[in-house]
Amino acid sequence: MDIPHHSALSPADALALRYGIEAAPPVGPWNDHIGLLLSHRSIRGYRTDLLPQHTLETLIAAAQSAATSSNLQTWSVIAVTDPDKKTALAKVASNQKHIEQCPLFLVWVADISRNQRLGAEEGVALETMPYQETFLVAAIDAALAAQNATVAAESLGLSCVYIGALRNNPQEVARITGLPQGAFGVFGMCVGYASPAAANEVKPRLPQDVVVHHDSYDTTGERRHRAAYDHLMGAFSARNDMAADTWTRRVIGRMGKLAAMSGRDKMVAALHAMGFPLK
Ligand SMILES: Cc1cc2nc3c(=O)[nH]c(=O)nc-3n(C[C@H](O)[C@H](O)[C@H](O)COP(=O)(O)O)c2cc1C
Repeated sequence: MDIPHHSALSPADALALRYGIEAAPPVGPWNDHIGLLLSHRSIRGYRTDLLPQHTLETLIAAAQSAATSSNLQTWSVIAVTDPDKKTALAKVASNQKHIEQCPLFLVWVADISRNQRLGAEEGVALETMPYQETFLVAAIDAALAAQNATVAAESLGLSCVYIGALRNNPQEVARITGLPQGAFGVFGMCVGYASPAAANEVKPRLPQDVVVHHDSYDTTGERRHRAAYDHLMGAFSARNDMAADTWTRRVIGRMGKLAAMSGRDKMVAALHAMGFPLK
């Protein structure tokens, strides 16, 4: 069964799925692109079917069409299909099985190495390279490109899930994929056809009032909205076989203890070792 990404839902129904009926905002301007965006869900189980020929090229063209800071294009992607490499990468990511199942695994790379090589070839020292800002630019570029690829894949009836757990051990990811200094795998992404067992619902988000601030930041009503969202997510979790949990408990579980970072608390040291001094 393919996940019905091209949602036939009315705008009102699509908004109700994303926010719950109570918190759904009014329907505004709408088209099929927006319907597609609202139908997104991460998929964690894949059929082994290969992707149609030249799917990768299409996804990369979509990715390269994203905005990129000053057109510096400080990102790269490693398209991994070798089963042994996928197994090794899955091991880094706490053995997430979908990494081995999916026919295509993309490692999105914040990559300042290419422009460093450009500087070396031109005999110019690029003074901005060691700065934290330069890493941030590259990480943002990689994320924007990846999200364009996700939307493109979903528009083709494919499914995806980001894999931030690659950052559990960025140096091992660099070893497996042969990254040079100045290249950092910010996250991975599974691409493939969803297995029927992995079909899930659209996951609700916080009410818009919590995330949108008009002219200045305003936390009025945040606690009340969070309580309502906890209720919605508790019911969603129960329906979708996730450990029945509220959003509040999830945030505390993920952000409350260093152990939940699975080694990512050593990120600055890893970045230093990988050619990002972060001045
Ligand atoms: C940068 C990033 C890293 C993520 N890493 C993982 C991951 O390692 N494993 C996983 O199962 N999901 C991962 N996700 C997926 C999120 O859990 C998911 O997007 C979130 O729960 C919202 O669900 P939805 O995408 O179905 O709407 C990641 C998402 C992002 C944006």
